[in-house]
Amino acid sequence: LNMRIKFAGMTFQNPFVLASGILGVSASLLKRVETAGAGAVTTKTVTRKPRSGYRNPVVVELEYGLLNAIGLSNPGVEEFSKEVAEAKKILSIPLIASVTGSSGGEMVELATAMEAAGADAVELNLSCPHVKGHGLELGHDPGVVREVVSAVKSVVKIPVLVKLSPSLPSLVPIAEKAVEAGADGVVAVNTIRAMAIDVDFRRPVLTSVYGGLSGPALHPIAVRCVYEVYEALGDVPIIGVGGVITWRDAVELMLAGARAVGVGTGIMYRGLEIFRELRKGLEAYMEKYGFTTPEELVGAAHK
Ligand SMILES: Cc1cc2nc3c(=O)[nH]c(=O)nc-3n(C[C@H](O)[C@H](O)[C@H](O)COP(=O)(O)O)c2cc1C
Repeated sequence: LNMRIKFAGMTFQNPFVLASGILGVSASLLKRVETAGAGAVTTKTVTRKPRSGYRNPVVVELEYGLLNAIGLSNPGVEEFSKEVAEAKKILSIPLIASVTGSSGGEMVELATAMEAAGADAVELNLSCPHVKGHGLELGHDPGVVREVVSAVKSVVKIPVLVKLSPSLPSLVPIAEKAVEAGADGVVAVNTIRAMAIDVDFRRPVLTSVYGGLSGPALHPIAVRCVYEVYEALGDVPIIGVGGVITWRDAVELMLAGARAVGVGTGIMYRGLEIFRELRKGLEAYMEKYGFTTPEELVGAAHK
């Protein structure tokens, strides 16, 4: 079976993409993800200046998912550009560079740097749920989203993707503005704002109090978000992300409208083996129902 898909002008060997923030920090880790069978990789989100992130604990395992507040720890754009350039030398699958800033100007600067380093696409993280002045604070205002996306589109030639938050009543107004402004694709979703309290210490578990919830608990929310965006915007390329642990979760997101499927927490649960498991499961599903390309599944639940 041909598992290849076209995505915003790129070709992925299969629909499965490494989600941002999980293993996407170094060239050698990205290569391991490629070897494990991913169709494309997304880097961890990079900011202008290095960030050390929050104090531990930054990730907590809950019953139905993970709660994290890493605090966007990253080496800053200068260091990270070298890592991306290095990664591009050894990778044969597309590399999507995730960036975030506190203004449109910063986003433009970061996107330009990632393009210069050789990234195949840039993902604007407008949806980090727990870092003040970044992400969500830009990404919840449709007007600001339009400005940021237009500014980035006017300077870079590579495809621009916009990563959306599920922590809003609806993603549709934001997705609409992003696409109007020229975004080549949408990534839905980031983690949803959440928290946990330690009942013995009677204090929030995370040092930053609020974090983002990922994994199985997020999955049905991600399905709703992808369905909603596809319903409103039709065939805009969507990477569906959220709680993909088995091939069924992936197929569900594709039927809702996702052309590609991001995997994050699933790697923590199943290891890198998950990429082969997902691919095998999707292939078996396609054979069973007579699909010849994964693209035939995209949005099929809407018909
Ligand atoms: C530990 C951790 C770190 C993350 N870091 C980032 C990040 O730097 N940038 C980003 O856009 N999303 C980040 N995410 C969100 C994931 O990319 C993904 O959107 C979310 O976790 C939902 O997918 P999942 O349920 O498959 O993990 C992070 C998630 C986790 C669990």
